[in-house]
Amino acid sequence: MLDTDFAPVDPNPRIAFHDYALDLSGFGQALLNGLSGLHKAIPCRFIYDARGSALFDRICELEEYYPTRTEIGILRRCAPDIARRVGPGAQLIELGGASSLKAEILLDALERPGAYVPIDISRDNLRSATRRLHLRRPDLSIHAVCADYAQPFALPPIEGGGRRLGFFPGSTIGNLQPDEAVSFLTDWAARLGPGAAMVVGVDLRKSTAVLERAYDDAQGVTAAFSKNVLVRANSELSADFNLDLFAHRARYDVEHGRIEIHLESLADQTAHVLGRAIALKAGERIHIEDSYKYSLAGFGDLAVAAGFAPEAVWTDPDQLFSVHYLVTPAALRNS
Ligand code: TRP
Repeated sequence: MLDTDFAPVDPNPRIAFHDYALDLSGFGQALLNGLSGLHKAIPCRFIYDARGSALFDRICELEEYYPTRTEIGILRRCAPDIARRVGPGAQLIELGGASSLKAEILLDALERPGAYVPIDISRDNLRSATRRLHLRRPDLSIHAVCADYAQPFALPPIEGGGRRLGFFPGSTIGNLQPDEAVSFLTDWAARLGPGAAMVVGVDLRKSTAVLERAYDDAQGVTAAFSKNVLVRANSELSADFNLDLFAHRARYDVEHGRIEIHLESLADQTAHVLGRAIALKAGERIHIEDSYKYSLAGFGDLAVAAGFAPEAVWTDPDQLFSVHYLVTPAALRNS
């Protein structure tokens, strides 16, 4: 029975090649840590390799996934108002700005934008998006920053006296726990500095049926997206997850106002990651991600707790999604 102790990496039974020396610091270590506790979890940022990012782009186009098109519609309508509030020469600083479609709506409306500063962890996406944008707007000064916007780093000093306008679309703020969201916004208020503004896209609370459909579509694109973390483990970490033995689950917890995304094991099974055995019981769940939904007032309170002053908020006629305009106190100027 010795050979079944190992992950069958090569279909030829006479050859077994087990490479466990791949990536023990990043993905591998996070996966082993996440799968060895009592409550299993995999940090969702590991879903986003090239295939995961392509699947996410498809999610954004699904009929069931209303947030992307709704937010774009709101931005088109409120961009002139944002431009008026922020004034001329603003520097648009986008958190996670590898696809600049939403930013371009603001750039179109801003009076003589001083600079566009997309910050993204994915170097390749950032490079190609920056090149595309430069071709379309040769006069715009673009300072692309390859960094994890959740980690401390200094914004590049940028010439020009306009205000800083942070931009955090997509309800990505909802993927943080509410207390993490407060510290995240507190950090960004400090980083943007006094007299700055920030536009945040926030998904709103609504019926369970609409929410659960948005995170578990009929074509199974979202299921493929969350399972992509197992696909990555199989190809990068000599893992042997059987994708057919996992089901994507998206459940709305009304009390906490959050969609909870899990992969559920459909059988008692043992998988292997980097040579370590991971036992899962039938029905056991691996937590992938939460997506918090807010009320308009609830998110306003959160912004206040982070030291921002909420100045304006826009929504769509069905109140599905919201775009908040927050400012940092000018009183901090000269601190
Ligand atoms: N920020 C997106 C959201 O919460 C991320 C997301 C959409 C997501 N669909 C998903 C994350 C499915 C994991 C699985 O809406």
